[in-house]
Amino acid sequence: MVTSRDLGRAQATAREIGGDCAGLGVDLSQPHQIAPALAEVDDVLHLALVALHRDNNKVREYNIDEAIKLVTLKLVGYTECVHVLAPKMREDASIVIYGGLARNQPYPGSTTITTVNGGVSTLINSLALELAPIRVNAIHPGQVGDTPAWMKQSKEVLDNLKSRTALGRLVTIEDVTNAAVFLLENRGVTGVNLRVDGGRMMK
Ligand SMILES: NC(=O)c1ccc[n+]([C@@H]2O[C@H](COP(=O)([O-])OP(=O)(O)OC[C@H]3O[C@@H](n4cnc5c(N)ncnc54)[C@H](OP(=O)(O)O)[C@@H]3O)[C@@H](O)[C@H]2O)c1
Repeated sequence: MVTSRDLGRAQATAREIGGDCAGLGVDLSQPHQIAPALAEVDDVLHLALVALHRDNNKVREYNIDEAIKLVTLKLVGYTECVHVLAPKMREDASIVIYGGLARNQPYPGSTTITTVNGGVSTLINSLALELAPIRVNAIHPGQVGDTPAWMKQSKEVLDNLKSRTALGRLVTIEDVTNAAVFLLENRGVTGVNLRVDGGRMMK
């Protein structure tokens, strides 16, 4: 199943993926609406929590409403999804939660994103402990060069970011999804925060 805030968009994406894929409408920034929205989901093997509200928020010009949207979505919304789906998960099920490199490498305007990505890093610990043998891990990508957010940046910005990675390139959606599949499928891995950043922390 794939989800979007917009049911039509989820269904169009499901058709594009094909096979038995189906679309569901759910807004993770409205946690009380998550249980009814996921009522028809059953027999869960893998859960990927990926949604993001982009909040560029400097503390001197703090926008409370934007911050609440992101904090609610990532910390309460993600957790409520796990709460709702846990009884429907198989014993060998697994969960991957998306954080990001901003937890360790802040930039001006990253206050909320740095906070929630730090929260994701520790959220997996209690979830992995409480839900075992269901496994729970987090993935922390660096700037993903072929996502819309980065494709629109100038060559100067991108070259600067690339020069700060050990690999000399930005990671790709394929790099990140391959790592997410590893976390979902490897039966020995739980409570792990995995960086996929082309060696950004080394520079
Ligand atoms: N791109 C990067 O460079 C990068 C770097 C580090 C970490 N990450 C992490 O990777 C994940 C994916 O990033 P991305 O760049 O692919 O994000 P994105 O392009 O902004 O996509 C975010 C998705 O979240 C959904 N969404 C937004 N608000 C929602 C809500 N309230 N409820 C439910 N769904 C909602 C949107 O779908 P609809 O609009 O259809 O609802 C959209 O498909 C995020 O968790 C992000 O923190 C990304």
